[in-house]
Amino acid sequence: MITKIMDVSEEPINIDYIREASEILKNGGLVAFPTETVYGLGGDATDMEASRKIYAAKGRPSDNPLIVHIARYEQLEAITENLPKTAKLLADAFWPGPLTMVCNKNQVIPYETTGGLDTVAVRMPNNPVALALINESGCMIAAPSANTSGRPSPTKASHVYEDLSGKIDCILDGGPVDIGLESTIVDLTEDVVTILRPGFINMDMLREVVGEVRMDPGIVYNDKGTTSGARPKAPGMRYKHYAPKGDLTIVSGDEDDVVSKINELTAQAIASDLKVGIIATSVTADRYDQGQILVIGDRADEKSIAHNLYDILRRFDELGVDVIYSESFSTPQMGQAIMNRLLKAAGQKTIEV
Ligand code: TXA
Ligand code: MG
Repeated sequence: MITKIMDVSEEPINIDYIREASEILKNGGLVAFPTETVYGLGGDATDMEASRKIYAAKGRPSDNPLIVHIARYEQLEAITENLPKTAKLLADAFWPGPLTMVCNKNQVIPYETTGGLDTVAVRMPNNPVALALINESGCMIAAPSANTSGRPSPTKASHVYEDLSGKIDCILDGGPVDIGLESTIVDLTEDVVTILRPGFINMDMLREVVGEVRMDPGIVYNDKGTTSGARPKAPGMRYKHYAPKGDLTIVSGDEDDVVSKINELTAQAIASDLKVGIIATSVTADRYDQGQILVIGDRADEKSIAHNLYDILRRFDELGVDVIYSESFSTPQMGQAIMNRLLKAAGQKTIEV
């Protein structure tokens, strides 16, 4: 199969391309498309064959459920039952936007899409291309992130092409995404709203809307593993996630101490003939004296850090570094989401200085 790339990065969006991609979806094919978080790999959510194709293209285990992308609130009502009041409150506050709600499903969405679960994860993305595609096709779109399973989520169309070229029908190239980390997932099927995956919408923002919110005990880690010993409720959070080819360690502490420690570790590694990568910020980059230094962003602008994280991890793979040292980014709003992804990539390896 030849994967067609269609440029929809300029406004007004080329409607011919949206129509062509919609036809592909309606005929059971796969379309990668931009959202505000990461690129998604979409198929018709009501078509079990399309869901099977998604798992095959990603090389993803079929018990890991997909997120259903919608464009109108009524579509959530159409595919769920026993919807709690919190759903409407959260939708009013955050949709379209980077929040996924797990609700009890009815029979409309097949088990192939939900990985055999009786719940379904639903989100209304805040991206004009994604919304146009859902509306034009008339499909609710099942879409995981458009990467090969085990690689970082794609934040640019070129990342999708690297991973999935020849395996999917087309890519709608909407340019680089906005946020760069996957959506926050909340579970609404229990008494208390529970965060299953941290993202741009954080605990404080959720509490302002629904009151009590808790974190899934299965995703709270220390250096010895999950603090509770519980399994993460979102199947995708259980899998060994993306690990860069280079061995990644996070160094945290005061900026000066972190910089000296990373310089020291880098010198030792280079003395042992290893190729070293460093994840730095625009402020610290000049203070590292050796190694391959990549700037992730500006600490004061935490969005820049989220935005560049996955691209940087992909670039270190291309550069073929043996070890990577990263500063720590426990920033105020998105720190939990950023560190969740970075710690996973590091296999939870951190050094406190
Ligand atoms: O930002 C995003 O959410 C992106 C864009 C494309 O929308 N999508 C995304 O999909 O990150 P994916 O498949 O890479 O991650 C979906 C996560 C997985 O961890 C999966 O286990 C979880 O959502 N999930 C899906 N349905 C679920 C359910 N019914 N119950 C619990 N977790 C669920
Ligand atoms: Mg994913």
